[in-house]
Amino acid sequence: MAKVKETMFVCTNCGNEFNKWMGQCSFCKEWNSLKEVKNNLSKKAGTRSARTEKIEVRNLAKLDENKERNNEIISTTIGEFDRVLGKGIVRGSVVLFSGEPGIGKSTLLTQLLGKVRGLYVAGEESPEQINLRVKRLGLNAKNIDVLASNSIEELGEVLDRANNVFNIVVVDSIQVMSTENVGGAAGSPGQIRESTFRLVEMAKRLGVAIFVVGHVTKEGDIAGPKLLEHMVDTVLYFEGERNGDLRILRTTKNRFGPTDEVGVFRMEEGGLKEVRGDEINLVSGGENTVGSAVTVVLNGNRPMMIEIQALVVESFAPMPKRVFSGVDYNRGQLLVAVTQKVLGIPLYKYDVFIAVSGGIRLDDTGADLAVVAAMWSSYKEKALTKNSVLVGEVSLLGVVKKVRGWEKRQKEAQGLGRRLIDIGNVLELKNL
Ligand code: TYD
Ligand code: MG
Repeated sequence: MAKVKETMFVCTNCGNEFNKWMGQCSFCKEWNSLKEVKNNLSKKAGTRSARTEKIEVRNLAKLDENKERNNEIISTTIGEFDRVLGKGIVRGSVVLFSGEPGIGKSTLLTQLLGKVRGLYVAGEESPEQINLRVKRLGLNAKNIDVLASNSIEELGEVLDRANNVFNIVVVDSIQVMSTENVGGAAGSPGQIRESTFRLVEMAKRLGVAIFVVGHVTKEGDIAGPKLLEHMVDTVLYFEGERNGDLRILRTTKNRFGPTDEVGVFRMEEGGLKEVRGDEINLVSGGENTVGSAVTVVLNGNRPMMIEIQALVVESFAPMPKRVFSGVDYNRGQLLVAVTQKVLGIPLYKYDVFIAVSGGIRLDDTGADLAVVAAMWSSYKEKALTKNSVLVGEVSLLGVVKKVRGWEKRQKEAQGLGRRLIDIGNVLELKNL
């Protein structure tokens, strides 16, 4: 075996390891980020192989038993939550639960623990704060144990001693956890990666399901949670506009179920309440309003009627403003360009603001036509036909393409006393 150096250098920014010190990390190009750490073989590289050996020897006889336990499904007893997960929580799995700060991650997971016996690893809040929340939510405090710690090693010890009393563990959040295995501050990519690796190992070994909370910024581009998406079994996003009360739980990766289901919740005084399909109506009811267009989007397989509002005003800035909320920036830019070219309106000298009702984030191109129609309506200061619903993907040439689930959307619109309008080209908006 090659001789191993006693110390090594770890980049506190990206977590890469080097044999010698450098002023700049050759991987992520960060300056002065390399820190010397003990090359603790028995702990680092050694842990994995030593532990694997142990598991192989110890568990051979129990393998089938363990396997069964690991695939057992626990219901969250929250219908919307179960549906998104597949059927429920799979033992031994790790779920990344991500979303913007303040969106309600801790609230929903506390509600979950109130129903399924589990451990809350509180790195961000004190047990007193969590207790207050448990009381406010009217939950069964007996179901919830709290470990106030930021240490992966401490959690490991607790779980080893706990003898399977916990069905699920909530780690809130991964950004404040750290492990002695690597250097760097909590929240650095290296720490996040190693901490998650350890959590995955614990979940598989003990047959406990672990929910890992990860904060993302509005752009969703923080290194942390993205970095660990490939390490976990399931990735859930909890989203919505913070000042709106609607929250959508969606999954972008699921080893145990579909990825096209969504769960809908409403944030109320007493926590998050499930919202069934027919209870959603996000249209303001201000009929015949200039700048407003109604569409039906499919969120997973659930049709949802929503309103798009556009404000097109003369610009006095050298670069006209494009402010989109709920609309992907590039998609919005494209639709502005098509509107300008095909409908022949000089948007280059107008500020354009677009908003989607209920804080929904559009990821359905079926809403394109309504976005264009709302801009057209605002520019023309003319309301669209009463009760019309616009669905269709807009091509670069202004041609409107039919999208999937037309029937389903039609039914939803009719149920709410409206009808889908069949348009083949955005030019036809001029006749509406
Ligand atoms: P929280 O779950 O702490 O968000 P996150 O963990 O994603 O950062 O929720 C934060 C917001 O939720 C907070 O501003 C208050 C609100 N809230 C309610 O409206 N009702 C409730 O019952 C609770 C517990 C929170
Ligand atoms: Mg929180």
